[in-house]
This record gives sequence, structure tokens and C-alpha cells, in this order.
Amino acid sequence: MLWTTKLTRESAYDGSNAAAEALALYAQADAFAQPSSFYTSSPYRRPSRPQDINDSLLTESLKSNQLSSSHHLLAQRLLLNIYEQDLVFLPKPPMAFNLKEFKDFYEPQHVAFGKKIRPVLENYVYGWLKEEVHINGPWELESFLAHTDKVLEDVAQSDSRLFQVLTTSRDPQRAAKFFMTQCAGDFLSEASAMARNVLGNCGVYTSELFKILIDEYGYGVDKKKHSTIFEDMLKAMGMSHHVHYYWQFYTASSLSLTNYFHYVSANHGELFRYIGAMYYTEATLALTTKHQSRAIRTIFDNTVPTEYFDEHSHIDVHHGRMALKRLIIPMIEQFGNTIIPDLIRGFEEFKLLQDIADEELYAHIKWHDELDEHRARAAELHGKRNVDMRITESENELSVLHTHSNDELFWVESGELDFVMSPELSVRLKAGEGIVIPKGMIHGTCVTSKTCTYTVTAI
Ligand SMILES: [Fe+2]
Ligand SMILES: [Fe+2]
Ligand SMILES: [Fe+2]
Repeated sequence: MLWTTKLTRESAYDGSNAAAEALALYAQADAFAQPSSFYTSSPYRRPSRPQDINDSLLTESLKSNQLSSSHHLLAQRLLLNIYEQDLVFLPKPPMAFNLKEFKDFYEPQHVAFGKKIRPVLENYVYGWLKEEVHINGPWELESFLAHTDKVLEDVAQSDSRLFQVLTTSRDPQRAAKFFMTQCAGDFLSEASAMARNVLGNCGVYTSELFKILIDEYGYGVDKKKHSTIFEDMLKAMGMSHHVHYYWQFYTASSLSLTNYFHYVSANHGELFRYIGAMYYTEATLALTTKHQSRAIRTIFDNTVPTEYFDEHSHIDVHHGRMALKRLIIPMIEQFGNTIIPDLIRGFEEFKLLQDIADEELYAHIKWHDELDEHRARAAELHGKRNVDMRITESENELSVLHTHSNDELFWVESGELDFVMSPELSVRLKAGEGIVIPKGMIHGTCVTSKTCTYTVTAI
């Protein structure tokens, strides 16, 4: 697609219209368009439902109770694309390399549209954090240490909800694979956001951060690179290890974790927020990866290597300590207490986003487990309300995974389709069958008969 022909000279400089135009042009890239499959065949294919775009993305900021909306998911997908146009991706065999797709994904004018809307989208998805995270001071080194030590100690002492949720699922392997799917968006290009912070000259801090970065990148040994160890684990679980193969299945809150690190790293004025968030994640990963490893070993009866998690239980003890001793403390000593609010803000914001992502993961696993109950509930509710929408689609028509802000009754009137909830769970719904979709739960459909008519009704 030739972007330069789409933007006229006047419109490019026309304030807010220009943002709306940039958003529209950015979103209509072939890379984000309607696919023919739920899975991607190259790192440059990222179906994002551009038809869901509206002006609210440019003019509003989400509230913390609006995170299950389809617009949140859309904005997070777009943002990750914008950030990842700064990263280099090439397909791995047996995926084919398509030079045109590659060039299109990194097309400079298209990248520029993304850059133009990036601050607006960042405000849309993260603006609410200012209201939710209170960091009232005054702060000094001692109170910073006392606060963060207490938070990390609480994490160390608490039982693992993740372990409990995965191992007590009705289908623990399916639940574990859904967890891995959510990790894949981040871990397959692990620490890329960190790399944004090691260019330039921050004196000794650049070098200290670089030490953590090269650990993440395996010191130039591909087999040791954390993303490669994660790939090995995916393969051992019978999953795809290709970057963004599961693109459509990432939840908004999983995307928000990856994007948050890019957000505070791409905007260098937020360096201290980045350092605070990085400290939280490195220090807690040293603890939580032990439980993750134990869960995978239990669920797969020791048949799946857990080196990825075990490596983090080991190395992130050091990374947490390095973040504190080599970066945070000397930075506060050099630059003064003025940087502490940003350090605390990053630490607390990422903690909150992680908690939200965990809850969203558990809610999805519960929904998957309770599929039969939600089908039975649909049969009970069917016919009792006026439908909101009646839609007819033809064979192979696919609806990219998305969410709704309300619980919805989904009902097939004629024909049949596959209703997809995770890479491991889909159900064929025939005429006279339906399902209740709880708010915020990702799902997609693909028509399997000549045509299919279904209705949706907000509950
Ligand atoms: Fe790592
Ligand atoms: Fe690390
Ligand atoms: Fe839907």
C-alpha cells in the first residue's frame, strides 16, 4: 500500500483531524487486515479489527472499569504494532519470507503515522493509572526501601494463585497452554523494551543496565537467549514457537504488560518509571517463576523442560539486586529524592497491571472450564429478550478474536460455526445452540456452513 499517496499536504498539518487521519491510515495497513485464519503465518501479520476504530481512541482516556472493552484490546494491539515497528523481526523456518510483506511492515510513512498517534493511544490506555496509583510522599531513600521491601516480601510470602488456578482447572494442560499463549507475546521478543534504554550515555548506569540486557540476550549465544529457551518450551508443549502465531489470542491486559515497558522506554522522560517497573518485575520474577516451573512440571508430569522458568528463578535474583544496588540506590544518591516518585510510580503501576493481567487470565480459564454451564445458560435465556443484532455470514467468514463490555447471549439461528475461545478450545455451534459470553472474554467465530445467521443480545 502506498501511504504517501493517501496523505495530502494540507491534511497532514491540520491538528486533530491529522491525528484522526493518521489513526485511520495507520490502522488500514494490510498487516492488520481481515485474515483467513486464527493463526498468523508471518511476524508481519497482526489482524487488529480496524473496523472497531472510533474517535474515542483519540479523545478519551479509559477508566479502570472499562478495560474489558473491545476498544481497549484494539488500542493495545495498535500500540504493540507501533512499538514493534522499532524492532527487527524475521520469520523462522518453515515460515516463508515475503519481501513485500516485510517492506510494507516497516514502510516509513506508515511508521510515521503510528508515531503520530502513539502519545494519544498511550494516554487512552494508561491515563487511568494516574487516578489509581497514589504515590503521595515525601519520599527519601529509606522510605523507598522500606516500601518496596515490604511489597516484595508480601509476594515472597504469598501462595501462588497461578499454581492453584492452573493445577485445579478442569483441564490443567489446556489452562497451562493458555497461560503460555499469554506469555508468548512478550517472551518471544523478551527484553526488547529494555534495549531502548541502553543507547546514549547515562554514565555507569548505561553499562549496569547493559549487563542485565546481555543476560536476557544470552551473551550472544542464541541457545541461551531467554526468548530461545521459551521457544524450546513452547515446542515441547506442542505449541507454535513463531512470533505472534497466537496474536489474536492475547488478552488486552497481557498486551498491556508488554506495551507498558515499551511506553516508559520509548518515552525517555519516563526512564525512572522504567527503572522502578523493571525492579518490580525482575525482583518478583525470581519468586513467581518457581511456582510457574512447579505448575508446568506437575501438569505435564515432568515431560516438559522448565529451563525457561528455572533460569529466571536463578538469574532474576541477581537482576533484582542489580536493579536496586547498581541502579536505583546510586541514582537516588546522585540525582536526589526528586526521582523517587517516578521510581515508585513505575514500581506500583507495573504491579497493578500485573495483578490485573493475572485476574484476567484466571477469569478466562474459569470461562473455558465452565463452557458447558455457559451453553446451558444460553439455552435458558434464549427467546426471553429482544435481540440487539442479527448477522448473516458466509462460509469461512472469520471474526477476529475480540471482547464485549457486557455479558452477551450469542445464539445461532441457522447454519453452523466454530466458536473459538483459545487455541485449545473451540466448539461447533449449530442452529438452536448458543453460549453466554461474559464481558471481557476473548472469542472469535468462523462459519462452517454455506451461510450462518446468529444473533447477539446484551444481557
Ligand atoms: Fe529474562
Ligand atoms: Fe531478568
Ligand atoms: Fe463477539
